[in-house]
Amino acid sequence: FYGAAINPQTLTSYDVLPRCLLAVGHTGNIDWMVEDVAPHDLQQVLAQHGSSDEYLVELKDGEFLLPGFVDTHTHAPQVPNIGTGQQYELLDWLANVTFPTESKFQDVDFAKRMYKKVVRTFIDAGTTTCCYYATLHLEASKVLADTVHEYGQRGFIGKCNMNHDSPSYYIEPSVSASISATQSLIAYIRSLSRASSPNAALGTPQPLVQPILTPRFAISCTASLLSSLGDLAAEDPDLLIQTHIAENPSEVAYTKKLFPEAGSYAGVYDQFGLLRRGTILAHAVHLTPPEITLIKEKGVGISHCPTSNFNLRSGIAPVGKFLDEGVRLGLGTDVSGGFGTSIMGEVRNASVASKVLQFTKETSGGGAAEESKHKFENKQLPIPTLLYLATLGGASLCRLESHIGSFAPGKSFDALLISPAGKQIGMWGSGESLHSRPKDNEQEVAKKEINEWLERFLFVGDDRNIDRVYVQGRWVGGRSFTGFQ
Ligand code: GUN
Ligand code: FE
Repeated sequence: FYGAAINPQTLTSYDVLPRCLLAVGHTGNIDWMVEDVAPHDLQQVLAQHGSSDEYLVELKDGEFLLPGFVDTHTHAPQVPNIGTGQQYELLDWLANVTFPTESKFQDVDFAKRMYKKVVRTFIDAGTTTCCYYATLHLEASKVLADTVHEYGQRGFIGKCNMNHDSPSYYIEPSVSASISATQSLIAYIRSLSRASSPNAALGTPQPLVQPILTPRFAISCTASLLSSLGDLAAEDPDLLIQTHIAENPSEVAYTKKLFPEAGSYAGVYDQFGLLRRGTILAHAVHLTPPEITLIKEKGVGISHCPTSNFNLRSGIAPVGKFLDEGVRLGLGTDVSGGFGTSIMGEVRNASVASKVLQFTKETSGGGAAEESKHKFENKQLPIPTLLYLATLGGASLCRLESHIGSFAPGKSFDALLISPAGKQIGMWGSGESLHSRPKDNEQEVAKKEINEWLERFLFVGDDRNIDRVYVQGRWVGGRSFTGFQ
């Protein structure tokens, strides 16, 4: 690939590379990259690396490469009811909207039809890595894993564990049934990626599809089930874990009533050994300071789901505070608590949420001295931070930050080719683009322009601007993808 690239680096910085040359090898990893190659040096640099321009993709005016998005929390079986039931708060929404929809995945043929559409939608939205909740059904969860595997997305798939406080038509009959179905799914997913991953023979370091333990949330699990899941986790330190935490005040109160001895919501998961590096906790809107400290100390990650938090009136998670405390943070669509399948929607609402906290704080008169200790708390999240959360931050929640989330030799090529083609869909500008292969003296202007394109893309772009989606070097989706449906 030769052209503009944006490369996230830290919570507060990314590199803008107007003339980047990046080579992807047979394994789908990035073989080498040269950050700045002048057009007249292109052939020579290719030759130095023993390459030719035979397979060169030259980016056009306004196009740029971006690492793929990481969605750290979503529910594949809730896509069918996306955008409905928005009058409810969490617990009523689960009872009236979510559980009836999820229960339909008892029907494996329904699951096959739905999950094809669902996975295609997430890929085309630019999500190259996705942490999926399936339903409680083993067979339908396998179908989701098959589909993610077949379509070539990187994903974590978990079967919900729920044997308590769920409707009679949608509940697991016993701890042993829940655990044995979970073990079956883990084994199934691992055999799937060993047997037929297109990259397996080529030594891809990470299987693309992996299992993840998924106790739905404390309310839907008995202590005995959580304890058995903790045992599974202890035997298998590589397993990721995902669940919900402190989303809604009624949920928090009920959880404390069910588990009075745990001391706090986070304490429930901790007492069963479920808080560790590789645990992803969604929402975290109503945590107490000791819970935040516990989460930080355990290396646990938080999935910030701002669209859902607005939509179900859950509240605004204090993500600036989490960042100041050094807590790992990523973004999650939380479909269909959230009404969008795109991480760009989460970038927008994370920005709005941070601005709401900022002006609420300003109008309530926070002291300047107190403010200065905090880099992120109650402040608008800047673009580099939002981009980081959508890429490297999410990768870090999945323990994949050395594999994905940015471009570097040896990392997987999980990438989006962004195109402003079709300015009618929102990526407005002067229409006069300089930045395609700028001359040496045009570099600064080009960088400024690419920065503008990035901001426009994140805030007014949509999947029509995501021209190609690559996972592990394989072209798997995007607007001009014609590979398969
Ligand atoms: N808590 C338990 N289950 C769910 C769910 O499906 N969505 C959300 N947003 N919160 C939950
Ligand atoms: Fe959720």
